Amino acid sequence: MKFITVKTYDELSFKGASMIAAQVIQKPNCVLGLATGSSPVGIYQNLVKWNREGILDFSLVKSVNLDEYIGLDGSHPQSYRYFMQDNLFDHINILPENTHVPSGCAEDVAKEGSEYDNLIESLGGTDIQLLGIGLDGHIGFNEPADHFVGPTHLVDLHPSTIEANARFFNSADEVPKQAVTMGMYSIMRARKILIIANGEKKKDILLRACYGPITPEVPASILQLHPDVTVIFSEE
Ligand code: F6R
Repeated sequence: MKFITVKTYDELSFKGASMIAAQVIQKPNCVLGLATGSSPVGIYQNLVKWNREGILDFSLVKSVNLDEYIGLDGSHPQSYRYFMQDNLFDHINILPENTHVPSGCAEDVAKEGSEYDNLIESLGGTDIQLLGIGLDGHIGFNEPADHFVGPTHLVDLHPSTIEANARFFNSADEVPKQAVTMGMYSIMRARKILIIANGEKKKDILLRACYGPITPEVPASILQLHPDVTVIFSEE
């Protein structure tokens, strides 16, 4: 693992966006694994800026997102599809048909999950996977459990995740209690992983994930087994 500590969120966002930009420049038809939440917003702002300035071309890029809330369709302002359109896809020259977010409204989530894994497989896997980390150590929405789950699957959100994400809704009651998330198989199969964490409150869990025991109780600890992980932590 490469561990980069920076002072500010702006530095984190600039360095993180630079890593993704390098991937797009080196392989214009690459597959980007993308995340939502507050941490990647600054990265996406840089990518939008560099696309507008003509530095970055997304016309051949494909993307796969990590997760989606169950019950929210893409028109819901708190859905992760909406987030991606609003923060990135609507502002860059990526083709809509090349952007993929798991559906939160599938009748059969297990079937949707295996189709999503097949899709990632058919794209040749992810070149770089961007991850945030939850306060409970989750990546995607792989919550602490007694085993790691491989396929894209349905998950019950941990109470601390519901509480943490209530800031995006009117109240914690409105936060969906379940999500569909990419599992550890597709995450770990990414050729490169970039994990970002912003602020003191993430420090303990990040250190446990990077240097503590590898355990499904701290889902991000599985990343210790991946050969190419970069961690960017901002102290701000
Ligand atoms: C989002 C996701 C989550 C977040 C994590 C951190 O697609 O999969 O794992 O990355 O909950 O969220 P923030 O960045 O809001 O602290």
